Amino acid sequence: MTDGPQTKSRTRVQLGQSGIEVSPIGAGTWQWGGRFYWGYGRQYDDNDLARAFSACIEHGINWFDTAELYGRGRSERILGQLVNTSPHATSTPKPLVATKFFPYPWRLHRSSLRRALNASLRRLNAESIDLYQLHFPLRPRGFLYWVDAIADAAEDGLINAIGVSNFSADQTKRAHEALGRRGLVLASNQVAYSLLNRSAEANGVIDACRELDVSVIAYGPLAEGLLTGKYGPGSPPPLLRRLRLARNRLDSLPPLIGLMRDIGSAHNATPSQVALNWLVARGTLPIPGVKSAEQASDNAAAMTWQLCSDEFERLGEATVGFV
Ligand SMILES: NC(=O)c1ccc[n+]([C@@H]2O[C@H](COP(=O)([O-])OP(=O)(O)OC[C@H]3O[C@@H](n4cnc5c(N)ncnc54)[C@H](OP(=O)(O)O)[C@@H]3O)[C@@H](O)[C@H]2O)c1
Repeated sequence: MTDGPQTKSRTRVQLGQSGIEVSPIGAGTWQWGGRFYWGYGRQYDDNDLARAFSACIEHGINWFDTAELYGRGRSERILGQLVNTSPHATSTPKPLVATKFFPYPWRLHRSSLRRALNASLRRLNAESIDLYQLHFPLRPRGFLYWVDAIADAAEDGLINAIGVSNFSADQTKRAHEALGRRGLVLASNQVAYSLLNRSAEANGVIDACRELDVSVIAYGPLAEGLLTGKYGPGSPPPLLRRLRLARNRLDSLPPLIGLMRDIGSAHNATPSQVALNWLVARGTLPIPGVKSAEQASDNAAAMTWQLCSDEFERLGEATVGFV
């Protein structure tokens, strides 16, 4: 994993030691079917998502992150349909799909993971999952129980790479060791990480992943839109997002967005691209959620240029206290 700008941009990077090659930026699909929180069906529809999908592929994004949880399976269904039928995706190689198992408290046995995995495969209309992730290390079952069950499914050929999400540094190490004992690798840990949320640095997750050669997939890389420049104290995001994420952050946005615009202007780039570029320079793989072709093209354009060291440092210094 790198830290700081590279001299040459790369079109594909390896996901941990899995052998799977992904674009430095992927696409998040929580929004695909997320009615309540994101406004799917009211502000945007399946046609917008089909165009967003095509724009991703056209601009070099080759992987999509979903979960059985998103839209209660709807996100997987929409994605499966697009991956299998969109003219932009039927060319080889097919876009890669990462999805997640959610350890609901009533799921207690391996058989429930296998049932959930089979249901995801059906919705995605796939024979195997490129990256299967344990969504959260939630009890009552210990997370190693589920990691082991995912490893069984990988050995049965249903999963190509194994990932976790929302794991601490210690949990990541333990999952990595457990898989290593079976001759398997932990490809990734997906955590919240952005210029407005640097807790993954403070809590040691980034360092632990780097040490183990486990990729960090950065979710919420645009802080749910706050880092795009369109929201601020006078133009807050929709209510639910305001309550969940923006409450204490809106006032600190203007100076940061000002700096991002200043840095972006040297590259003809938007604040979103600056936010994503910083994460790529930190050696992580951001997966911005998209609702439209415009958002997808804008985000993908962050793969075409790079922050210089001075810009990278200034952004880091301006956001050092954000956790
Ligand atoms: N593992 C986990 O526990 C977990 C948790 C959360 C998310 N995730 C994954 O991570 C992905 C990304 O996180 P996220 O979607 O929560 O937040 P995000 O990527 O930080 O923000 C996405 C939102 O920002 C706005 N946006 C995106 N690109 C834009 C652009 N170029 N210009 C202007 N606005 C833009 C859109 O919302 P508006 O247009 O409405 O402003 C979009 O819905 C998710 O889709 C999901 O796949 C995983």
